[in-house]
Amino acid sequence: MERRALGPDGFEVPVVGMGTSRTFDVRGRAAEATSRRIVEEALDTGANLFDSSPMYGEAERVLGLALDGRRAEAIVATKVWTADDDLAERQIEASLHHAHGRVELYQVHNLVAWPARLDRLEQLRDEGLIDVIGATHYDAAAFDELMTVMRSGRIGFVQVPYNPLERDVERAVLPLAEELGLGVMLMRPFGRGSVLRRWPSPTELAPLEPFGVTTWAQALLKWGLSDPRCTLSIPATSRPGRMTENAAAGNPPWFGPDERDLVTRLATRS
Ligand SMILES: NC(=O)c1ccc[n+]([C@@H]2O[C@H](COP(=O)([O-])OP(=O)(O)OC[C@H]3O[C@@H](n4cnc5c(N)ncnc54)[C@H](OP(=O)(O)O)[C@@H]3O)[C@@H](O)[C@H]2O)c1
Repeated sequence: MERRALGPDGFEVPVVGMGTSRTFDVRGRAAEATSRRIVEEALDTGANLFDSSPMYGEAERVLGLALDGRRAEAIVATKVWTADDDLAERQIEASLHHAHGRVELYQVHNLVAWPARLDRLEQLRDEGLIDVIGATHYDAAAFDELMTVMRSGRIGFVQVPYNPLERDVERAVLPLAEELGLGVMLMRPFGRGSVLRRWPSPTELAPLEPFGVTTWAQALLKWGLSDPRCTLSIPATSRPGRMTENAAAGNPPWFGPDERDLVTRLATRS
């Protein structure tokens, strides 16, 4: 698995990590055992970065359980997500507890109350409980505000949506990230599954085989990661087996313009 520096501090991450929204919002021994299998598979393939949030129900707790015994191998990314200062403290306390005492990457979720949340995350970084601070937003309407935060010099990376059907970040966010040397984490690489609905045929995917791509999911992951301004992608899955498939997209060779155009055409055809 290729690793890249996430921002100016040079913190290294795998180019494929894993999201936990919805997929890890589960309860009960059987479901939690499945989550553990998915996490172990991700660790075994080198996709050792896990993104979560207090917004994702049980996900932080389930991820923490799944990492029991292997926490040292993992990079945990989570978020703080509230305008209420007291609730923010409670979220941070719970997140640190679930993540076994430290969170490598801490993000302000959807920019909620970002000036106050950054003040607190900077304190936690000074205390050595955090390595890198970031900010996320899923909506292009918020990208101007996101870019204000990027220019503030207070964050090392952003998390934004990027797939062939959601390309708004190309206009200004990716160029600014490149100019400032900030890392870029790609959420929703499959558009929450919507880009996966119509699967191209093996013949249509054949030109991508020399790039190690044999499935449509791998084609979409490699499409995003082949833009050198993008640092890593965090697909989510609830099924064992899929992290091995997804992680295989994290190795060179990277697509050139022709392969990216092919994937775009396949994803956007009517
Ligand atoms: N505002 C924010 O900060 C924000 C917003 C959105 C997302 N995120 C982060 O980004 C992560 C990823 O986004 P997302 O979860 O919305 O959507 P996504 O990763 O684009 O898509 C997830 C869907 O893809 C399917 N999938 C995964 N691997 C597959 C494969 N190899 N083959 C076929 N289907 C596959 C999964 O189905 P199965 O479960 O059946 O495998 C799941 O339904 C989230 O989990 C979260 O961590 C952050």
